[in-house]
Amino acid sequence: MPVPPRSALPAASFTEAALESRTLLVTGGAGFIGGNFVLDMLARHRDLRIVNLDALTYAGNLDTLAPLADDPRHRFVHGDIGDGELVARLLAEHRPQAIVNFAAESHVDRSIDGPAAFVQTNVVGTLALLERARDHWRGLDTDQRARFRFLHVSTDEVYGSLGETGRFTETTPYAPNSPYSASKAASDHLVRAFHHTYGLPVLTTNCSNNYGPFQFPEKLIPLVIQKALAGADLPVYGDGRNVRDWLYVADHCSAIEAVLMRGRPGEVYNVGGDAERENIQVVRTLCALLDARRPRADGQGYASQITFVGDRPGHDRRYAIDSGKLQAELGWRPAETFESGIARTVDWYLANQAWCQRVQDGSYRGERLGTAA
Ligand SMILES: NC(=O)c1ccc[n+]([C@@H]2O[C@H](COP(=O)([O-])OP(=O)(O)OC[C@H]3O[C@@H](n4cnc5c(N)ncnc54)[C@H](O)[C@@H]3O)[C@@H](O)[C@H]2O)c1
Repeated sequence: MPVPPRSALPAASFTEAALESRTLLVTGGAGFIGGNFVLDMLARHRDLRIVNLDALTYAGNLDTLAPLADDPRHRFVHGDIGDGELVARLLAEHRPQAIVNFAAESHVDRSIDGPAAFVQTNVVGTLALLERARDHWRGLDTDQRARFRFLHVSTDEVYGSLGETGRFTETTPYAPNSPYSASKAASDHLVRAFHHTYGLPVLTTNCSNNYGPFQFPEKLIPLVIQKALAGADLPVYGDGRNVRDWLYVADHCSAIEAVLMRGRPGEVYNVGGDAERENIQVVRTLCALLDARRPRADGQGYASQITFVGDRPGHDRRYAIDSGKLQAELGWRPAETFESGIARTVDWYLANQAWCQRVQDGSYRGERLGTAA
């Protein structure tokens, strides 16, 4: 089929009105960010329906979606984004107005030990999803085609590592340094190519490190909380001076919604919270919050459990995001500061230890990963 010149497409948008009474196909919606997105969107949009396709890897957890168990607006489908037949069937049956692609292998340390799974899901899987999305989109009428969106959720790690100064913008050249970020970079390029080659109305978001409820306790913040409460060592890689730009997960979800509704097809939007912190600062903040809320019986502070361990191979030194385009074009602002978001997060983990125990009963038991290099 010939490619419609983009200038010929009607300037339709995926507006707030369009979001009501509509269906989204969300992939990876049993994971950390996808789960928060599904819960939040259904809480705020009464007539929205979500088809949630998730392979339930170690990182996917149906407990997160328990509040939706009896909600007819949520349909969970256990399956792989790389299963073209299944995706084609879901698209034909539910006719979603947009696909939001969270599904991924997402943990850098795991990508060091086993990169192949990252290429399989993040690259091959995303390609399969794009192909089925393109075929579905081509079969829509002109108006539906103009309103359809494929939103790809990606990471700031594709841009590589920064020195002491500067921030990543949407035009920063890609320079991924881990198998994880390389696989996400490849998927971003495929998404871009499907817009330029086939005209598919894609959107890409590149976001900084997230934290908040329902994050699997292998990532820094929930890992430190769980280990602190268990009286275990709190492992800090290298000298602890690596800097990440932290964003509360609900703010990432609101950014994705803004991009979905008002973003310009073909565009990339960086998402970040303007909250650069060294890893050691994050760990000390968590210790102080836990000291105040759940003091150790022996009167010592949790910071006494901090232990510096050998650095992660290829550990990027600093990430910082310039989200000026998203703020200026789409009016997005984060609602949480790092201080308010991290306090809410600690409170959530303290109140949801049963969730943490259940997800940790699976394959992951808090062991060190990512030392295979
Ligand atoms: N966590 C962060 O700080 C962060 C920051 C920026 C961008 N991102 C991106 O956001 C997305 C979600 O990240 P997350 O932290 O929620 O990840 P996560 O690992 O918590 O969840 C990933 C989900 O995808 C599912 N999944 C994995 N492979 C699949 C497949 N082949 N088919 C269908 N489902 C599959 C898993 O079961 C899981 O539910 C990822 O694409 C990630 O690259 C994450």
